[in-house]
Amino acid sequence: MNNFTYYSPTRIVFGRDTEKQAGSLIKKDGGSRVFIVYGGGSCVRSGLLDRVTASLDEAGLAWETFGGAKPNPTLAHAREGVKKSIAFGSDYVLGVGGGSVIDTAKAIAHGTANPDADLWDLWFKRVPLTHSIPISCVLTIAAAGSEVSGDAVLTNEEDKKKKGFGTDLNRCHFAIMNPDLLKTLPKYQLAAGITDIMQHTMERYFIPGPSCQMTDEIAEGLLRTMISAGRRALADQNDYDALAEIMWCGSLSHSDLTELGRGKDFSVHKLGQALGGVYDYTHGATLSAVWGAWATYLYKACPERFSRFARKVWGVEEEDDVKAAAEGIRRNVAFYKEIGMPTSLKELGLDPTEEEIHVLSMFASYDKTITITKILPVDYEGIKKMFEMAVDGIVPED
Ligand code: NZQ
Ligand code: ZN
Repeated sequence: MNNFTYYSPTRIVFGRDTEKQAGSLIKKDGGSRVFIVYGGGSCVRSGLLDRVTASLDEAGLAWETFGGAKPNPTLAHAREGVKKSIAFGSDYVLGVGGGSVIDTAKAIAHGTANPDADLWDLWFKRVPLTHSIPISCVLTIAAAGSEVSGDAVLTNEEDKKKKGFGTDLNRCHFAIMNPDLLKTLPKYQLAAGITDIMQHTMERYFIPGPSCQMTDEIAEGLLRTMISAGRRALADQNDYDALAEIMWCGSLSHSDLTELGRGKDFSVHKLGQALGGVYDYTHGATLSAVWGAWATYLYKACPERFSRFARKVWGVEEEDDVKAAAEGIRRNVAFYKEIGMPTSLKELGLDPTEEEIHVLSMFASYDKTITITKILPVDYEGIKKMFEMAVDGIVPED
């Protein structure tokens, strides 16, 4: 097991009706002027926003709302939010929504606390971020894990660069998580969230190296839970217990718990972020569309991790490691298909030209300056190959 530091300071407030605690939690946290960030309006239509603002009123807090964060949220929208938040004099930012809203809320908090710095300079660490104002959230979709993560992701629409920014100042002070809120999710978003949660776990699992039994068992238990609870929730979206399992797994999968002693590489996310940045596809769908190609490209270089995955997560009984690994990949891709996720670029809606594959590969290799994966150093050429394999989708042959 490698050395590690585990820091996951977010207070999780989990369960039915917990959004009613928003006001008292912010008050206890020292907030008085609250800038509420939300997205395209699902929380308005469901009545959630009214319940949250009523709770802030009850706690005697001043608030202002700022809607319009869209999936794959933009830098320009966050900048607009910063201006409004400063004008309001906010000392606290509350995101009511999913990863796109919470990431926008994080950016607005940093911009509010640093009015002289340009947000994109902070994002690229050209200007160090040393302080911010508190951020918390009411989560409405189990997917990105932003409610507990130290990351935030924005897209600069001018150059289509989608970029993550990591800092502990991105950690929410509290995350309110009421599984009932997931009942209004479109099925496609629920399935995309299930995919993202599984991928956050796998991005930390397919790493060769030291023995980390506890970390592996947590990851495998989480993946098995997602498969069974995912199936139950998609069959009956009123199944509170299934939704609760998914929501809790979403946070555990991105709280760093499944990487302790092993690490992470987020190489599938690098491919997915290229697709999300250039074409604006749903984040989880970009991951399922490329995972089969990614895994097929790599599994023979790391049969020990892929065969363990096959046996522990998918119950594969094959004794030969390479054959077992191949079967595990086939079953995982079949699961993504079963829940309605794309498993190729064409299913995602993209039949790319050579030039488009080049652009995506430049994006994912940061203009040929990095390699991805901890299994093999995969450079621009390898990434290009992965995208080519993903066009029609691929799994290892029997
Ligand atoms: O905007 P509204 O109207 O709320 O609709 C949203 C949106 O259309 C809808 N939705 C959310 N909760 C709902 C609901 N509709 C009905 N009922 C509800 N309860 O779902 C759609 C997707 O929302 P979004 O916030 O985009 O989802 P998600 O949580 O998947 O976030 C995706 C973003 O997070 C980033 C992704 O790259 C993407 O930009 N990520 C952030 C990470 C982080 N900060 O740690 C890590 C992730 O890997 C990811 O990269
Ligand atoms: Zn993700």
